[in-house]
Amino acid sequence: MTPPAVGQCREFSLPWQEGGIEGFVVATSTGHYAYLNRCPHTGAPLNWQPEQFLNFDNDMIQCALHGALFRIEDGHCLHGPCQGQALQALPLRYEQGQLVIELEKNKQKDSMC
Ligand code: FES
Repeated sequence: MTPPAVGQCREFSLPWQEGGIEGFVVATSTGHYAYLNRCPHTGAPLNWQPEQFLNFDNDMIQCALHGALFRIEDGHCLHGPCQGQALQALPLRYEQGQLVIELEKNKQKDSMC
């Protein structure tokens, strides 16, 4: 996928095993970070609207349902009902200017995006 610009987020869906994975990428001045779109509190999607995952100040990921706040760089919940838990990070790499999410499945790697 094309990397989002700093301060922006991008959602994606990946085919995975018998279902799929819903995730998102956040871009900051320090890099890109990818997570499952699932709050550790209830498993609900995090976004407010399509591509909208950040709080008003654009410095934390915020769950739209109960307002938990997550540090962008490591997904740790710093405030809210799931404080101390973390978002599930997805492995991310750059390839020829594109972002690639790489999931391992029985030692066989599936490159996606
Ligand atoms: S579902 Fe995310 S804080 Fe409750």
